[in-house]
Amino acid sequence: MKIGFIKYILIFFLSFHSINLYSAGKADLVEQKWPFDGFFGRFDQSSLQRGFQVYREVCAGCHGIRLVSFRDLAALGYTNDDIKSIASEYEIEDGPNDEGEMFTRFAKPSDKFVGPYRNKNEARASNNGSYPPDLSLIVKARAGGADYLYNLLNGYKEVPENFRLNDGMYYNTIYPGKQIAMPQPIYDDMVEYEDNTPASQDQIIRDVTSFLAWTAEPELDERKSIGVRVLLFLFLLTLMLYAVKRKIWRDVE
Ligand code: HEC
Repeated sequence: MKIGFIKYILIFFLSFHSINLYSAGKADLVEQKWPFDGFFGRFDQSSLQRGFQVYREVCAGCHGIRLVSFRDLAALGYTNDDIKSIASEYEIEDGPNDEGEMFTRFAKPSDKFVGPYRNKNEARASNNGSYPPDLSLIVKARAGGADYLYNLLNGYKEVPENFRLNDGMYYNTIYPGKQIAMPQPIYDDMVEYEDNTPASQDQIIRDVTSFLAWTAEPELDERKSIGVRVLLFLFLLTLMLYAVKRKIWRDVE
């Protein structure tokens, strides 16, 4: 009877061990410890805010996050007034108005972020023929997830002597083919953090990676806290059912 009980407890604790679905593409990646990893992992709001700052000051010049709306930023700890003022820094095209004309207006909290280019052709024309993808879901779209992005942004190295680098390309040890059309975007001290965190290259990459992990899965915190509550419930239910079973079968040899 004791063994059965221990088995339940074991299964309960084994379920904490997250199963890694991405292990296939991870061979070359240096794995990182993320605050949002694991069963109890949650996003770190101040890192998300810094990462958002990096996105705005560095990546937004070439990449959009068109699935994110301004009001979603409440999850990063911004107030409604902060969000209104962030949105009002962007202009978006709207319309048509009563005269049938399209017009531009300042963004509202319910609008989504607008990318830097009007269309794919303009994006390619501005980037030597390569298309800078929208970053909203990029962490989910690449094997290795956040680790891939972290390693990619850290992957710019000196070009080896025997390597033939094509025109307008940059050497990157992580990108397939080892050359990428994106110039190294992040260096030490290229942003000045509003919360005065020292802005080393590693810190900036960590923060922007966390931010893009959030844009790819904004419901992560909620999903995990529901998970914890469900498991707690199942654990208590197991204890209760076990007690009931013992009571019912008490008199049977
Ligand atoms: C000067 C423009 C420019 C800036 C600034 C820039 N990128 Fe890029 N990025 C590109 C281009 C162009 C590509 C497409 C590369 C290719 O196809 O070879 C790209 C591709 C990417 C990819 C896709 C890589 C893959 O696996 O396909 C990611 C992720 C990315 N950029 C992240 C970022 C982040 C994060 C920032 C800000 C820290 C940033 N980029 C800043 C131009 C830029």
